[in-house]
Amino acid sequence: MSHAHSAPVLTIDGPSGSGKGTVSARVAGQLGWRLLDSGALYRAVGYAAGMAGLDLSDVDAMARCAEATRIQFRAGAAEGTTRVIVNGHDATDELRTETAGAAASAIAAMAPVRDALVALQLGFRKAPGLVADGRDMGTVIFPDAAFKVFLTASASERAKRRYKQLKEKGLSVTLAGLQREIEARDNRDASRAVAPLKPAADAVIVDTTGMGIDDVVAKVLAVVHPLPAA
Ligand code: DC
Repeated sequence: MSHAHSAPVLTIDGPSGSGKGTVSARVAGQLGWRLLDSGALYRAVGYAAGMAGLDLSDVDAMARCAEATRIQFRAGAAEGTTRVIVNGHDATDELRTETAGAAASAIAAMAPVRDALVALQLGFRKAPGLVADGRDMGTVIFPDAAFKVFLTASASERAKRRYKQLKEKGLSVTLAGLQREIEARDNRDASRAVAPLKPAADAVIVDTTGMGIDDVVAKVLAVVHPLPAA
């Protein structure tokens, strides 16, 4: 299928805590493009499955759940924030927890679950453009994207960032526990058979270890609007 006349896409893939979420939202805001937080879709399906009391290891049940779950994104009251509505319930806060992340990672390894979410993701591609945040945006969902970035950072830095975020939200976590969870989740995401976490061959790799958010945003925007050679 040719996307020659479709809206431009910037894919931003990378492991958890690489700053993808914040960077993607800021870059989408600056470009005036739509935003797809694909991780929220896997989190939403895991959450819906949990609410329905389903067995998260049952592939058929998870695939049916992925097809049946209604997921909506709405602008939040605070500027630049998004609420995620799952089957009519605002589940934004529940979806951000490490438990929801681990459930998402487990069901995201199931091919039928991934297949059930493809059409929904492709539907986000609309003018004037789309910033797509995830693990397989540049490799599987939008392989023809004009702009691809892969964000990384050391595991300890990613754990520290996540620790700060969760603490600010008043959640009780330990740094060591968080780093273990992050490493376990990344190993699973990177080693799974379907759509593993890996940079697209044509992605620009940005290591954000030690970088501030403004610098990362500037670097990613430069991929879309390269500065003319001096
Ligand atoms: O980006 P996140 O932390 O919200 O993602 C949660 C999990 O969902 C992640 O551990 C793996 C899975 N995921 C995926 O497999 N493919 C994506 N495009 C996005 C997320």
